[in-house]
Amino acid sequence: MPFKYVDKLLHCDGVNLADIAEQYGTPAYIYSERSLRRNVEVLKEIFIDRGFKVSYAMKANSNPTILKLFRSYGLGVDIVSAGELQMAKHCGFDGAEINFAGVGKTIEELDLALALEIDHFNVESRFELELLEARAKIAGKKAGVLLRLNPDIDPQTHPHISTGLKQNKFGMSPENVRYFLTEAKSYPHIQFDGIHCHIGSQILQPQPFFDLIEYLEQFTDSLKAGGVDITHIDLGGGFGVNYEDPFEDILETTPFLESIAQRAMEKLGKYQLHIQPGRVLVANAGVLLAQVLGNKENGGHHFVIIDAATTELIRPALYDAYHAIFSHREGRPLRMGDVVGPVCESSDALAKHRDMPEFEKDDLMIIGSAGAYASSMGSTYNLRPLSPEIVVNVGGETQLTRKRQSFDEMISLYS
Ligand SMILES: Cc1ncc(COP(=O)(O)O)c(C=O)c1O
Repeated sequence: MPFKYVDKLLHCDGVNLADIAEQYGTPAYIYSERSLRRNVEVLKEIFIDRGFKVSYAMKANSNPTILKLFRSYGLGVDIVSAGELQMAKHCGFDGAEINFAGVGKTIEELDLALALEIDHFNVESRFELELLEARAKIAGKKAGVLLRLNPDIDPQTHPHISTGLKQNKFGMSPENVRYFLTEAKSYPHIQFDGIHCHIGSQILQPQPFFDLIEYLEQFTDSLKAGGVDITHIDLGGGFGVNYEDPFEDILETTPFLESIAQRAMEKLGKYQLHIQPGRVLVANAGVLLAQVLGNKENGGHHFVIIDAATTELIRPALYDAYHAIFSHREGRPLRMGDVVGPVCESSDALAKHRDMPEFEKDDLMIIGSAGAYASSMGSTYNLRPLSPEIVVNVGGETQLTRKRQSFDEMISLYS
């Protein structure tokens, strides 16, 4: 287990988190290289070794050290913006290792991606298809496209992270996907490779994926019967992690990954299969390290106020997400309360009504599962500088992979 108590103090791969706090300050994100490697090795064995293409959804965490590590295992990247495209390029991914997803893309983004000859665009609407056709024509290129199909499957997860229901903004109806594939010749600068779906995130059961595979089998059979052939199917991301016990192994939480891969090969193996996982690769490889500024009581309520806030981890405020709270010191008595930050919003809370270890002023608090959608969703609200990201490598050395933003850097953006 990369994060564990040693002599009653929480360590990451042998490094005392208090030493990291002293060296780099708080708040800070700490990532375990050992844990990142374990996650990617599991996915490689289950998916890549079976012939799937795995593209890491870098929106989960776009730290270049992590991106380069994943690339070394043969993963590509799933990007959603020009910024992510530039970061992928910076990390050495070439066009053939990049796919561009997202519900809307600007002309500048399409042009940049066309110039880089990325593997494919995931297209979600007619207006985007028409724009891409026009830009590809100007660029004198043929753009690879997977149409994003909205299969109306309930992923049984939080409504804010379910994306494959027909009332969601994502994807196209099966009728529209069929229509565009049949009309492929009207888009001479587009190569229609196949279909993409992403039904949601933090999915902890295999059934929604089995439903998706079955749906796609029937849909592609009916396309074939209508004379339409495709070559690629992308099943999206969405594999969940254990937020209650973040230090549990990936396969304890998602023992069903193998059965999803098997089922997909069985039913859709004649296509080039893709997945685009984000969270499962990074969430539990990271923690957020914070310091307690003090305790207070208000209206019979106990608050622990820390130096981290929704600016470092917005998930609890955004979708009531649960993140486990640990004390640096093992064996503290439990006390019910809220963990809140200094940001001037009532929603600025990281845990509510929680039985958690008792904290004293200056204690270190460790917030679990902060490897995904934490730093990448970070903001500078209240002019709080972005926090540093530290990787503890397998040799037990710390590497500052993103420095803390300086006040000068923030101020220099203004004229
Ligand atoms: C299109 C697409 N693919 C992949 C992902 C990654 O999802 P997850 O981090 O749940 O694996 C997302 C997440 O929003 C997405 O929208």
